[in-house]
Order: sequence, then C-alpha cells, then structure tokens
Amino acid sequence: MSTVERRNVWELHRKEEWHPTILWYAKAVGALQAVTNLSDPRSWLHLANIHGTDTPRQQWPAGFTDRTWNACQHGSWYFLPWHRIYLHHFEKIVRKTIVDLQGPADWALPFWNYDPADPETLGLPPEFTDRTGKDGKPNPLFRAGRLAAINQGGRVPASDVELTVRGPNGQRRPWTRRFSSPSTVVPTFGGVQTGWEHEGLANGQLENEPHGMVHNDVGGVTPPFGLMTRFETAAQDPVFWMHHSNVDRLWEVWRNAANDDPLPTSSNWLGARFTFGSGTSLTRLTVGEVLRTTDAPLEYRYTDVPVPVTPVAGPMLAEADDAVGAPEAAADEVPPELVGSVDGVALGASPHEVTIETAAPQAPSLAEAEDGTDEAPTYLALENVTATEPGTHRYTVHVALPAGADRGDHPEREVGRFSTFGVVEATRRDDEHSGAGLTYSFDITPVVAELQAAGEWDPDRLTVTVTPDSGDGGDLQIGRIGVYRG
Ligand code: C2O
Repeated sequence: MSTVERRNVWELHRKEEWHPTILWYAKAVGALQAVTNLSDPRSWLHLANIHGTDTPRQQWPAGFTDRTWNACQHGSWYFLPWHRIYLHHFEKIVRKTIVDLQGPADWALPFWNYDPADPETLGLPPEFTDRTGKDGKPNPLFRAGRLAAINQGGRVPASDVELTVRGPNGQRRPWTRRFSSPSTVVPTFGGVQTGWEHEGLANGQLENEPHGMVHNDVGGVTPPFGLMTRFETAAQDPVFWMHHSNVDRLWEVWRNAANDDPLPTSSNWLGARFTFGSGTSLTRLTVGEVLRTTDAPLEYRYTDVPVPVTPVAGPMLAEADDAVGAPEAAADEVPPELVGSVDGVALGASPHEVTIETAAPQAPSLAEAEDGTDEAPTYLALENVTATEPGTHRYTVHVALPAGADRGDHPEREVGRFSTFGVVEATRRDDEHSGAGLTYSFDITPVVAELQAAGEWDPDRLTVTVTPDSGDGGDLQIGRIGVYRG
C-alpha cells in the first residue's frame, strides 16, 4: 500500500456534500454496527470497548483481559502513541470493510480541525448531525447521545481549541517543548511518565486542550451525558475518531514546530507495546514503531503537515505482550520544590479563592537566586483533583486577583484552564489505580514576572482563584494546591 492522506472533514464537505470519503465512512460504520458478536474484533461495540466499557467484567467474552477492553491510556506519556495505534487499528478495519463493500482501497480517516479562524469548522459537518443518511435511511454517523446544541449546528467555543497555552493578558504562549516529565507538577506537552495508566495521573497540554475540552463540548457535562463525555462510551461516537485524528495531527504539528524532535528516547516509552484485536484483525505495535507516520506499518500523512524527519532510535524492551515499562528513573532531574500549599479545596458552582503562604526555596541553587534574578520557573499545581461527576466543562485559574476584583478585568492574572474530562475516571479506584485523581499544573513564571514588574508581587503569599466556566459545578475536590519552584 502506498501512503494514504487523512484529510480535513470540512474541506471534504465543502467540496461535495456526502463526499465519498465521508459516505464510505458512514457505510462502514453501519456495517460494523451490524456485527453484534462482541468477540469479533470488527464489531463496532468491541472497537469502542477497547477504549472503555460499562459492561461488567463477568460479562466480557472469554479470554478478554483489562488489556483487551478498558485499555485507553490517559494522563500519561502513552496517551498520544496509544491513541495513534488505536486509530491505525480502527482505520485498517474500516478500510477493509469499505473494500469489501466495493469501495476505495485508499480510504483514510478524516480529521475534524476545529479552527477558530474558520468558525463554521467549530461545529460538526451536517453529515454527522443529520438523522437521515444519503440513502434516506437512519444515518450511521448520527448519534443522539451528544449535547443537543451540537446536533443542532452549535459550535465548540473558539477559546477551547486555541493551539497554545493561555497566559497573562490573553497572550498565548506556544505549547511547551517538553514532551514528558517524571513529575506530575511539571507541565508537559505529552503527559507524565507512567507505567500502564488507564485512568491517568496528569494530562499533557494537548490532552487537556483542545482534546479534553472538545470531548466535554460534544458530550456535555450534566446528565444525561453524551457518549463523548466518558471513557466508557466516547469511542461509540463516530466523531471520536475524527477528533482523535486531529489530536494525532496536532502531535505532528507540535513536532514540526520544535527545532529538533523532542520525543523521549527512553526504552520504557519507545519499547512499550500495545495489542489491539485478534486473528486477522490484530494490531501489535510499539511506540517506537509509530513515530514516522509515512513508514510501514502506518503509511498515512495529514494534508499540509510535513512528516518530521528526525530519526527516532532507541533501545527496545524485551519482546513481551503489552510490555509497558515503569516511569523513568529521574536520576539527573531534581523535582520542583514545594514552597507553599493549601490542602483540601472543594470546588462548586461559584469561584473559589484560597491564599497560600509561600516560603523561599531551600535548594541552594534556587535560594541563592532569591534576589529576583533567578531563572527557575514557578509552577502552580492543582494536585489530586477528584470528582464523581464533571458538572463543569472547564475551570479557569487566576492568581493574585485584588480583593473583590472581577476576574474579567484582570486577564493579566490568568494562568490557564483545565478541562474536567477524565477526572471522574481518574477518581475511580481499582487494582491498578489508586483513584488519586488528576494533577493540573501551570507554568506561572510569566505572570509572576509581570506582577514583579508592576511591583505587585508578594513573595510571602499567593492568592489562587479557580472559577467554573459553565455547567452546574459538579463536585470537584482538589487534594492540594501547591506552589513549586525549580
Ligand atoms: Cu482516550 Cu479522547 O480519549
């Protein structure tokens, strides 16, 4: 097979209603939905259950393990590669189904590029929201299980899909160049270093936004939840796959934006192996095997996105099924130092403010530079955030708001936002996960610098305001809000 091209679903739609790529997707989804034997790796529900399922374990087909279903990797440096392999597996099965239906052999999964510069693309193309398909029958791409407004032509907020990190004065900074870290309090692009991690510890920036934001925007955050809101149902929505095609594309965009390719070289990452499906529909690949999308076995490219050329090489783990290494030993990396914190914060439907007493850092390298000339970053971490229902799409975090001030008047003190997608899952306790929740961390160095320049920086205390943007508030708890240096 030669390389196929994953194309922008809105461009396809604008070329032609029910463009063949979209029409064949619909036909294949219909055919896979008709496969009702859940042991069959081609069944639509089987494919979605790989990501997550509500089906109790006792009812799973014989031989299935928690590496077969409920396997999605979140809040982890495996988030991006795991979903890449998952999409590849899905795309192969869809393409084979299309070929069996006499369709094109070069079909590729489109991507949903929600682009603030092109507002119409913030909604779903009508091929996904019309109840009736091109043939006048029920449309396999339609799902009632979405936020009603989205199915009525509504759009995701442009501010949820900006491809940058929010910072003071509405200035947006590019995503960090750092792909991962052993520490949950260091902001990263790709997620914290973990072992096998279904529920997650700390999201990378891309996983948080636009990824998590769009999940909540399509599924809604109050009951009845749409499919996209929960790990257990998300992949049942045909939109999920186009969304993740875009997330996968954005990973390539980020790689191209870096001067060299800043991917991890550790064998725990490159050698981690994931298995999907079985029999003639088996996909079994390591992270190291999927870093050049135009190479076999992937063989796809995204319209207008160059494929990074940096060769990726590294030692591989021993050949074993689903070999997933432990987190990197951080021998040469000193974790950031906690300089102040407040424990146990409950969030509701209104803004919540806490004041944290902060001390000078103890580490000599940090302490000696306390004259304000030091370059060490300051991080604000919302640690161990848990909830049993999301309740809110997203929270915005400000620091040092003057007493009684309206946060709208102080964009220079906004340090970032986080999506609640995945919090409920990360709160669940099971054999492999402590249920300790997710940590959201923000690099607040630029805000601190602005405050210092304005003579408004108080080295002894920091006020933090966490504000829900929409929804009914949910029941989020923050284990600790910590200020870190280093
Ligand atoms: Cu595994 Cu977008 O979710």
